[in-house]
Amino acid sequence: MFISFEGIDGSGKSTQARRLAAALATEGQEILLTREPGGSRGAEEIRRLVLEGEPDRWSPETELLLFTAARRDHLERTIRPALAAGQWVVCDRFADSTRVYQGVSRGDLRAMVDRLHDLMIGVEPDLTFIIDIDAETGLSRARARPGAEQRFEDFGLPLQARMREGFLALAREFPGRCRVIDGSGDEDAVAARVRAALGAAE
Ligand SMILES: Nc1ncnc2c1ncn2[C@@H]1O[C@H](COP(=O)(O)OP(=O)(O)O)[C@@H](O)[C@H]1O
Ligand SMILES: [Mg+2]
Repeated sequence: MFISFEGIDGSGKSTQARRLAAALATEGQEILLTREPGGSRGAEEIRRLVLEGEPDRWSPETELLLFTAARRDHLERTIRPALAAGQWVVCDRFADSTRVYQGVSRGDLRAMVDRLHDLMIGVEPDLTFIIDIDAETGLSRARARPGAEQRFEDFGLPLQARMREGFLALAREFPGRCRVIDGSGDEDAVAARVRAALGAAE
C-alpha cells in the first residue's frame, strides 16, 4: 500500500506519518517512511532549493517544475522500488500538497499542476490521510518548531485558512482515496483516528 499524509503546515502530518510507520513496523509490516519534497538523494537536493531562501526566489512556474522534478526522482528511486519489493510506503506529503500550495497560494496554477502530474507522475496513493486542523492551531504549532525551512512558513493566517479549505476540497474531489482525520487533541488521539480509518479502508 502507498499511503500519504497531507494537510496544512503544523497539522501533524510528520508526527502521524512517523507514528503510523512505527506502529505498522511493530506489527511486522515492511515499511518505508519517506517525505516530500525529498525522499531520494536528488530530491533532497531540490528540497533545499525550494524550502530555503527568499520567498520570491522562484517564480510560481519554476517552483512547480522543481517540485515535480523532485517528485519524479522520488518516485523513480524510492517509492516504486519499495512498492515493487513488497514494502508499504508511508509518505509525508505527496502530489496533493502541490495541488493545494501551487493551486491556491501561488496564483491559480491548478490546471498546470494537473497537466504536469499526468505527464510526469501519473500515480496517486492508495490512501491519503488529510490531517485537518484549524489554521490558527496549525500556524502556532508550526511556528514553535525550529528550522531553516522557512520559505513557506510566513504565509499568515488568511492563507493558512484558504489552504485548509483547499485540502478539504481535495478530499471531496478524491473521496475514494482521501480520509479527513480530525487533527485536534493530543498525538495519541489523532493516531487512534488514523488507525481506525486505515482499518476501515483495508
Ligand atoms: N496532536 C498534537 N498536539 C500538539 N502538538 C502536536 C500534535 N501533533 C504534532 N504536534 C507538534 O506540532 C508541531 C508540528 O507537528 P508536525 O507533525 O511537524 O506537523 P506537520 O508535519 O503537519 O507540519 C511539532 O512540533 C509537533 O511535535
Ligand atoms: Mg512536516
